[in-house]
Amino acid sequence: MKVVMIGAGYVGLVSGTCFAEFGVNVTCVDVDEAKIKKLENGLIPIYEPGLTELVKKNVAEGRLHFSTELKDNVGKADLVFIAVGTPTRRGDGHADLKYVYAAAEEIAKHLQDYTVIVDKSTVPVGTARNVERIIRETNPNADFDVASNPEFLREGAALSDFMRPDRVVIGVESDRAEKLLRELYRPINLIEAPIMKTDLESAELIKYASNAFLATKISFINEISSLCEAVGADVHAVAKGMGLDGRIGRKFLHAGPGYGGSCFPKDTQALVRIAQEHGVSSRIVESVIEVNAAQKARMIKKIRNALGGSEAGKTIAVLGLTFKPETDDMRDAPALAILPALIDKGATIKAHDPQGMEEAKELLPASVSYHDDINATVENADAVVLMTEWNNYRGLNLKNIRQQMAGNAFIDLRNVYEPEQMEKAGFDYHCVGRA
Ligand code: NAD
Ligand code: UGA
Repeated sequence: MKVVMIGAGYVGLVSGTCFAEFGVNVTCVDVDEAKIKKLENGLIPIYEPGLTELVKKNVAEGRLHFSTELKDNVGKADLVFIAVGTPTRRGDGHADLKYVYAAAEEIAKHLQDYTVIVDKSTVPVGTARNVERIIRETNPNADFDVASNPEFLREGAALSDFMRPDRVVIGVESDRAEKLLRELYRPINLIEAPIMKTDLESAELIKYASNAFLATKISFINEISSLCEAVGADVHAVAKGMGLDGRIGRKFLHAGPGYGGSCFPKDTQALVRIAQEHGVSSRIVESVIEVNAAQKARMIKKIRNALGGSEAGKTIAVLGLTFKPETDDMRDAPALAILPALIDKGATIKAHDPQGMEEAKELLPASVSYHDDINATVENADAVVLMTEWNNYRGLNLKNIRQQMAGNAFIDLRNVYEPEQMEKAGFDYHCVGRA
């Protein structure tokens, strides 16, 4: 079996590499020449734990290839996956489908024998049918089917999520396409992950509904965290007490600075637009988006209050910039909303992140200084803000940090530490939803 993966980003590179690991011959194609050149030289353009080793292994074993050319690859493929970006379209919140449709047109030109074209990108309902129409219009004689196979992996845990998923969803309307997809995913099915077959529209909506539901859990607990602060309750206890009910579940009830990343923010917005287009209200998801924005604003106030009511002239050491640990991805990271607001009001920011600093330099105000060392970051700071719960911030040498700082405010936006422990260490400790 031969697979072409169009788009060698977080999803395409991980999916392509994992399919190769299953024994399939995979070519990852990307328009970004620099990215492909890096991959050809054994350099992985993103940080994802375990990916470098798995790419190397599959390249060495001759199953994984990289190219900028669709022409020589699509004609020989059984399945062609579209895994290009679907960012928020500027101005209106819709998913921008220009990369998906450009890929569809390109694929159409090079189809030869029967091929299944699979949407792996997160796309609004109706996109698979549009892809089908584009291919038919561009190449009326092509023998093909279009399928929808949304991806549910998380960054930072992408390989294990891909190899051991809770489910694989395939939207297909032909037996031939279904057979090929089932064969491709057979190794996953062997570990008893269910492969769920649906129509195209349901597969597309399952993806948005899943992300929106997970975002809802986060906004819900973030809203409850404000109430905890007001009434003197502990959000950890509340989340645990709720989550022990199997109908609710413990996951995704961790209060924090608001969700970020390349998907929840854009996918919740896109779902609202999809509903609007179909004349349906989506009040819950609209509120989820509002609550998330409010949570970020609340974090700014929390930091300001910890600094005695004004951040002007204060130095803030920020530990963690990425939207979550174990990734270098800065897309829609809470840091991008919180730090510029503090800088605008006169704060000086010193930042540290194990993987995100290069990308952060492009996105944050130029005045931010970056440090490779935690000690250098906290030196002379009036406050420390723990923004992202990287493992190396979980066991900080608190005594050392307290001595290096000019002030003693510690604002833990991920609730990594215990209030008593921090007070004992001499900090004026602030966290989320724990009075
Ligand atoms: P990304 O931006 O990391 O990668 C997309 C890649 O596609 C880029 O390298 C770009 O150069 C390439 N590309 C664009 N147009 C192309 C074309 N015509 N031909 C070849 N290559 C082209 O994006 P991503 O994070 O991998 O996301 C891809 C899709 O998967 C999105 O729809 C996203 O919502 C969805 N998704 C992402 C994740 C995640 O964790 N990042 C998880 C599940 C689903
Ligand atoms: C998310 C989903 O979890 C994946 O299933 C999905 O495939 C992916 O989006 C996508 O469509 O791209 P990801 O964005 O990589 O994955 O990361 P998550 O672990 O879901 O975290 C997203 C954001 O929510 C982060 O900012 C994280 O800090 C925040 N979060 C998560 C919380 O604030 N609290 C929680 O309890 C969980």
